Amino acid sequence: MIRCVPALIAGLVAALSLGACEGNRADEIVVGEFASLTGGTATFGRSSDAGVQLAVEEINAAGGLLGKTLRVVVEDDQSKPEEARTAVLKLLKQDRVVAVLGEVASSRSLAAAPECQRAGVPMISPASTNPKVTQVGDHIFRVCFIDPFQGSTMAKFAMKTLGAKTAAILRDVKNDYSVGLADFFRDEFLREGGKILTDVSYSEGDIDFKAQLTAIRAVRPEVVFVPGYYTEVGLIARQARELGIAVPLLGGDGWDSPRTVEIGGAAVDGCYFSNHYAADDPTEAVQSFIEKYRRKHFEVPDAMAVLGYDAAQVLADAIRRAGTTEGAKLRDAIAATRDFPGISGKITIDEQRNARKSLVVLKIDGGKVKFFQKVEP
Ligand code: PHE
Repeated sequence: MIRCVPALIAGLVAALSLGACEGNRADEIVVGEFASLTGGTATFGRSSDAGVQLAVEEINAAGGLLGKTLRVVVEDDQSKPEEARTAVLKLLKQDRVVAVLGEVASSRSLAAAPECQRAGVPMISPASTNPKVTQVGDHIFRVCFIDPFQGSTMAKFAMKTLGAKTAAILRDVKNDYSVGLADFFRDEFLREGGKILTDVSYSEGDIDFKAQLTAIRAVRPEVVFVPGYYTEVGLIARQARELGIAVPLLGGDGWDSPRTVEIGGAAVDGCYFSNHYAADDPTEAVQSFIEKYRRKHFEVPDAMAVLGYDAAQVLADAIRRAGTTEGAKLRDAIAATRDFPGISGKITIDEQRNARKSLVVLKIDGGKVKFFQKVEP
């Protein structure tokens, strides 16, 4: 018995050093995740991570993947594109992950995706909607719709549902998502015969929008399109109302955070934004997900939590179908995803590695975000 101890210790040392130098344990599948757990848009990262973690718990409780445990290594990118790239390099080189989940913000996905592509490791963004993200290369995927659909839908919504013939745009020039979405809205609004009376900008982190809003007030638009993130949208709405701009403000998925209503208060009442899911969608899959999420986090999930969960489940499904985590085969399996039953809707990965999915328009009404209409692609 005692004689076994040195051998045991030697074995342990060997196993440990093997673990450190040669990669990951044989009984685990290691996936990386990069998210904005801190910084300017921390609700994005915390939500998407909560969704990913919920999926991983369920996958492991049901026996894991290919007879192994799924382990996710999470890196915080502090809401900064440069940090996103560094975080992903660490996941690829040090943790030797077989796939990467992230990011929510398009600018951060764009900063990190080239590293995944170069390494031949598939990346799935849960929620980045700018078209350029998946154009980085054939290893980059997403489980959400893209901004040409979101922007044109909101332009049609403004014209057909709200009856607007004129609009103003207030975009965040520091944000790839905002710039793209503003362009797609403008193009469709013009194509449909509408007029864009003015198109002004701010930079992420700004807190005073009075100059831009005064210019907007002067041209009297029937709607104002504000394709920004929740961090600025609430402030913009309050300052717009203070200046006497009473028309509806419209936005995209970047408005999706409890902070929009917290900051915006009554100023965002009567405003509309497009999103990936509606919490008041009565379907069984959505409601049971909300129940599960609530038991753990004591709040209703936002779209990023839902998409984080869906991204992890789509990856797990692809690993099962591939029967391996080898880069090229896993890539092909993700690309072959058809009609996957996500909480955010059916997910089919198209030729451009984007998901073709329906969108919902939500209305903020009495401090509550409510389903208004559903739009098919
Ligand atoms: N679509 C946004 C982007 O590409 C991110 C986002 C997704 C924000 C979902 C909120 C909800 O930057």
